Amino acid sequence: MEDRPIKTSAPLTPTRATAETILKIEGRHPLSGEVRISGAKNSALAIMAGTLLCSDQCRLTNIPDLADIKRMAEVIAALGVQIVATPGNLDFDTRHLRTAEAPYELVSKLRASFFVIGPLLARLGEAKVPMPGGCAIGARPVDLHVRGLQAMGAEVIIEHGVVQATVKGNRRRLQGAKIYLDYPSVGATETLMMAATLAEGETIIENAAQEPEIVDLANFCRSMGAYISGDGSNKIVIQGCDRLHATDYPIIPDRIEAGTFLVAGAITQSEFSVFPVVPDHLLPVIAKLEATGTKVIAEGPNRLRIKPQGILRATDIETLPYPGFPTDMQAQFMALLTLCEGSSVVTETVFENRMHHVAEFKRMGADVKVKGNNAIIKGVPFLSGAPVMATDLRASAALVLVGLAAEGTTIMREVHHMDRGYDDLEGKFKALGARIERLTATL
Ligand code: UD1
Repeated sequence: MEDRPIKTSAPLTPTRATAETILKIEGRHPLSGEVRISGAKNSALAIMAGTLLCSDQCRLTNIPDLADIKRMAEVIAALGVQIVATPGNLDFDTRHLRTAEAPYELVSKLRASFFVIGPLLARLGEAKVPMPGGCAIGARPVDLHVRGLQAMGAEVIIEHGVVQATVKGNRRRLQGAKIYLDYPSVGATETLMMAATLAEGETIIENAAQEPEIVDLANFCRSMGAYISGDGSNKIVIQGCDRLHATDYPIIPDRIEAGTFLVAGAITQSEFSVFPVVPDHLLPVIAKLEATGTKVIAEGPNRLRIKPQGILRATDIETLPYPGFPTDMQAQFMALLTLCEGSSVVTETVFENRMHHVAEFKRMGADVKVKGNNAIIKGVPFLSGAPVMATDLRASAALVLVGLAAEGTTIMREVHHMDRGYDDLEGKFKALGARIERLTATL
């Protein structure tokens, strides 16, 4: 049959090629050695907001090199704070806090920057912070932050997407209050704990979050002279004071980064050490690794060794507030379960929409079915490398893990998600012997 030309009403224009960063992973290379864990992203973000409580100079050390940290620094700098960054450190001079208004363009890029609302209100008696909006993993409202601040005497108006909070009266000072959180929200506990350090009188937060990052923030506030007790339990008591002083404070190691590397050991059946870590912070992850048949051995107070045993058994996980299994490890652990013998169920209870990685796992041969917030995983004997797309921060780490375990080459796009929260992930894997490279591809 004769070829006929395709007729179009408008001439076809070729799609414009764009350059994009991709991660190329050659799977099935054993890992060995040791890996150094960076400072905790989530601690650092909250503590950076906490520096606004002090009208002096603060130094934070063990700061990870992350896009989220840079964004948070931009938000704080926009308030008039001088920040000097040197490798691993941030110096804040908060004496000249100029404005209580955080700019939308910056806050919209980073949900955690909403946390400045508590310190701003406590220190200046007013704060204007845009709503952070939803994100890929769920709607993530801020009602618990707002209700707690109202209980402490703030008047709050939410208009045109901006939360405007003010404290009336001569001294414009928040009042201590008894606050019960409907849910132990990490961010709301942090906002209210920070606000209470400079309030008048005593604040009690019931059903508070108990995450290690809450304890780190409390330790930081205490190092500036704040009176806080009960952090790490579900009842935190804060006695407000007039002023907080300068400090020099190191951030704790990142338990999620450490957990990600431990799972990497299990999924690649490789033995190596991770340090520094606080093993207690990793108990739920260690317990589940042991349930798969993988050993995790303490090598001193701040070092763990992952020691796979040649078997991987299915196990169920349910994400919960600390000390339950962390939602921030759900995707990485599910990566491991795709290769575990038998059926596992993963139940996500913290966020409503945190299963986007499943579609990408399936492209590599995983057998996973999602029903609401449950994923049913039937272990397969092997996965095959494929082109995949990172959909959020922890999903990106999970895709790196399956890429390291799969046969052949995996190409991951949307690498910027990974750069938000992992300090040189591919460099650290490379040092352990992985074949992983960052490339610029023309797509
Ligand atoms: C923090 C962590 C994030 C982690 C999460 C849960 C930071 C910067 N981020 O996020 O990595 O996954 O804890 O461990 O520390 N909620 C409300 N109303 C509120 C606040 C929260 O309904 O006012 C809901 C959220 O929508 C979510 C759940 O509570 O479903 C948990 O959120 P929360 O603990 O507040 O998490 P974040 O502080 O946002």
